[in-house]
Amino acid sequence: MKRITLGLAALIHAIAFAQIPPASSLRWSEVAPGVWKATVGQPESLTLLSAAGAMAPRRAALAAMPPAAFPLDQADIEGRQWAAKTAVRFPLAANEDIYGLGVDFTAMRRNGAVFELHVDHWDSRRGIAGRTHAPVPLYVSTRGFAVLFDSARYLRVSVGHGVRLAAREKPPVIDRTTGKGWQAQPRSDSIEVLAGAPGLDVYVFAGPSPLDAVRRYNLFCGGGALPPKWGLGFLTRVPTRSTAGQALADVAEFRRHGIPLDMLGLEPGWMSHAYPCSFEWDQTRFPDPKAFLAEIERQHVRVNLWFNPYLAPQTPLHAELLPYAGTHLVWNGIVPDYTMPAAQKIFVDHLKRTIVDLNPRAVGGFKLDEVDGYDRYLWPDTAVFPSGRDAEQLRQTYGLLVQRAVFEAFHRGDRRTMGQIRGTNAGASPYPFVIYNDNYEFDGYITALGNSGFAGVLWSPEVRGSNSGEDMLRRTQAVCFSPLALYNGWASQQKLWTHAAVKEHIRNAITLRLRLLPYFYNAFAQYHHQGTPVIRPMPLWEGLYAPTADDRAASGRSGPPTGAAAAGQPAVAGKLDATTNPYEIPPAAREVKDQYFFGDSLLVAPIAPNVKSRKVLLPAGRWYDFHTGRFAGENQTIEVTPPLATMPVFVRDGALIPLLAEDRQWAPAAAETVALEVRHYGDAPGRLSLYDDDGETFDYERGGFSWTQLSVEKGANGGWTGAIKPDANGQRWSYGEVKWTFMPAP
Ligand code: GAL
Repeated sequence: MKRITLGLAALIHAIAFAQIPPASSLRWSEVAPGVWKATVGQPESLTLLSAAGAMAPRRAALAAMPPAAFPLDQADIEGRQWAAKTAVRFPLAANEDIYGLGVDFTAMRRNGAVFELHVDHWDSRRGIAGRTHAPVPLYVSTRGFAVLFDSARYLRVSVGHGVRLAAREKPPVIDRTTGKGWQAQPRSDSIEVLAGAPGLDVYVFAGPSPLDAVRRYNLFCGGGALPPKWGLGFLTRVPTRSTAGQALADVAEFRRHGIPLDMLGLEPGWMSHAYPCSFEWDQTRFPDPKAFLAEIERQHVRVNLWFNPYLAPQTPLHAELLPYAGTHLVWNGIVPDYTMPAAQKIFVDHLKRTIVDLNPRAVGGFKLDEVDGYDRYLWPDTAVFPSGRDAEQLRQTYGLLVQRAVFEAFHRGDRRTMGQIRGTNAGASPYPFVIYNDNYEFDGYITALGNSGFAGVLWSPEVRGSNSGEDMLRRTQAVCFSPLALYNGWASQQKLWTHAAVKEHIRNAITLRLRLLPYFYNAFAQYHHQGTPVIRPMPLWEGLYAPTADDRAASGRSGPPTGAAAAGQPAVAGKLDATTNPYEIPPAAREVKDQYFFGDSLLVAPIAPNVKSRKVLLPAGRWYDFHTGRFAGENQTIEVTPPLATMPVFVRDGALIPLLAEDRQWAPAAAETVALEVRHYGDAPGRLSLYDDDGETFDYERGGFSWTQLSVEKGANGGWTGAIKPDANGQRWSYGEVKWTFMPAP
């Protein structure tokens, strides 16, 4: 009887699955050192990497990384293609944690969740997992590799969810009525991805550590963004209806208050028409843009001009781009199909000719708004575009396409840019645009900052004003340790000096930001030349979570866990009552998502508005207080109660932190020579490769840069001394006198 039943089951299976081809293993080829690619089905011509215009991989930098073998058993990876769908399965080991999959605002660890990766304005009230400004389909494994699904489709990703019939080892089967440890979501041994596409390209990036895997991803995309030096200064955005006179008055106020300023953001009111946009100066508020820009240049400031890319009728750009418009309007403006090279060219030409070239020393960048969502603002999923592509493909890539156009407008003139963007995706690493959004939740902002480090993108919290001075101060201190330090006053009458009680502290925070320019710039140089993200969330800290040799040996097995609590997937308690949802997944083990590393040596622990004290996890190794130089702890969690004047920042033992020796009001210009201060922290000798170039042009692409070796050693008399070894081939070094400070300073 049993044999007949089994035979019948096999027959039913065979008939049913005849419609859908079996999953098969993929054929991998190494496309760059430590980077492998496989294709399932027939991928569409538009992918995320092709939309980003993927710059050439930085092969020499990839080759300089530790040699690495394919990090998984290839037999464990399989793909299947049927109808207009493609699925891929990767193994998930029992002790493996997954990070990445886009810039989430709530969590970092991804195990046990299902995502719909979809470009959108992240909104805490809706909280649909996977909908974010940067739903980059790159996952990073604690086993020391990363995987990219390169499709311009909405992707469904299940991480450790949905146990397969064919799984070799399955979670225990438990009777819920009587058994203990029954799970609403038994952990599976897979990460599964579904794309509504006839094919999919998949990339695997080797480690050996998770950070190395992210580095390989960034290098493969062309290296991380290298902004101009002034782009790491401070940006203020003025109210949307500001006139040229009011905008210049704001600059004058910054100078009067002694608050450094490098960028002035003009909001929709600079244009004659916005939502949809005209891309032309407003004659009333800006009657003489050339004269305005000349004054901006005299003030050592660059303007950053807001736009959304939907074009208003009755403008020359609208007429030129109308043949490339999609079927639907956004705020009654056309949506050009920028996947078409001819449309891109028209847009780039217009930006360069009529806006940037008006004064290339004063027009420094753009704020690329509204390329993310919401669904109710943008085109519906039924829209189609003249290239033959559809709404979904354009939604997933629009931010990439517009970044590429703006970058090109500056690159052609050999001037760097620093901008803002609200929607982006995979392949964006080389683009100097920082994501922002309209929420104002401090904790979410900091979690997003950490998650940006897994995704090859940049994100910054905002300060937009507050009725509480302390709130404004704490937010300002946090943005000063993020990729873009900005005050977004587009809808506010407040200024950074509104709250007299904290005005001084706000000025000090921004002054310190500019003093630290050499350190921050070095972190960006590492991002560009070595792929190392500027912001490193705690799980990317080498030595902290990177697997040991023992972990690696143990994780060779890719079966599911046997215990309920294995790898952070909590069991539902046996208790049932009328008030508890028995299917609710209890919060995962505490994640450290409220602190992060900026560059190699600084551990940043922002203080949320109105919070008096907080815990800080200091990883293995000795850590020192940035401000005082005093020992703070080692491999432990400490509690800090910082004064209002400072935000907690810690420095690794032996670190050399380069700063501008003097307080300044704006970043040094390309031809300027400035004095440097190098601070040494702790008891260990220090070494630093300090990068430099002209900070303004793309001369670094032609070899115009240097890495100078700084070191600090203890001499025979027990005192510290610092030494400098110039780069033998170095083309550029803009620092004059170097002052050494051995912390704690006397
Ligand atoms: C929003 C943007 C704000 C501001 C505003 C101007 O979409 O997020 O920062 O620029 O538009 O209308």
